[in-house]
Amino acid sequence: MKICKTINETTSLLSIFINDGKKIGFVPTMGALHKGHISLINISKKQNDITVVSIFVNPTQFNDKQDYIKYPRNSEKDLEMLSNTGCDLVFMPDDKEMYPEPDNRIFDLGNLETIMEGKFRPGHFQCVAGIVSKLFDIIKPDKAYFGQKDFQQLSVIKRLVQITNSKVQIISCPIIREENGLALSSRNLRLSVEEFKQAAIIYKTINQLSTFLENNKFCEFKTWAIKQIDKISLFKTEYIEIVDTETLGIVKDIKYHKSITCCIAVYCGQIRLIDNIQINL
Ligand code: PAJ
Repeated sequence: MKICKTINETTSLLSIFINDGKKIGFVPTMGALHKGHISLINISKKQNDITVVSIFVNPTQFNDKQDYIKYPRNSEKDLEMLSNTGCDLVFMPDDKEMYPEPDNRIFDLGNLETIMEGKFRPGHFQCVAGIVSKLFDIIKPDKAYFGQKDFQQLSVIKRLVQITNSKVQIISCPIIREENGLALSSRNLRLSVEEFKQAAIIYKTINQLSTFLENNKFCEFKTWAIKQIDKISLFKTEYIEIVDTETLGIVKDIKYHKSITCCIAVYCGQIRLIDNIQINL
């Protein structure tokens, strides 16, 4: 496994593979790798000749400075996991390499910036789009892999590809969960044992949406769900929203939709957890 810290090193190595006609799969990450990340890499390995993973904790996309400072970093363990998974190339730039100057581009992300994560994390998706477009320019992948765990981020990336006329094919990968249902996340490392146990309530709750639909009680779901979660003193729901899976428009009446996704963000103390569940109607 080759480890590259500079853009020059990465592009010159990759150009050899590209000239050879090899298919490049790319998995962008912020490190603190877990089985969720590894699942993306395994899918890429099946579909490409070369799999590239980037590890870069992108400072601009954090709304909360403390969240950035406390974001788990463990490159030694990450590299061991990547090598065991059979990753071919790791791109690990530092801040100066990615931002020799500030990135002032503005992307037209439409409604994605005003709802759910967009609303509660202003500017976040601009910076995600910015860093991913820089990474795509460097790696020039045929396919790039993103987890449904970050459902709205996936829509942002699909939109980025559209508005920049990029040829990268975006592959959406299923959410990997703990045994108790909690979606794997690098931020879970910051939960105490008790918080980790209790956090199972998030998935358990959104998973009940199908039962509400079966009983024609769609309108009652959100209020019920918030009550379930917030009755645990550690937790505070920031938002819960049911949106159309394709357009991310808010669902008022399910009869107008083919597939809906229930998205949730919950604070567990200072730690913010997100999850979602998709229901095809
Ligand atoms: P990060 O949070 O490290 O996630 C990297 C990729 O792993 C994302 O596509 C994310 O959706 C996916 N992922 C995380 N947890 C997962 C899980 N439990 N199951 C399946 N996939 C999971 O997302 C980012 O980094 C950054 O915003 C990035 C795209 C790298 C830009 O900086």
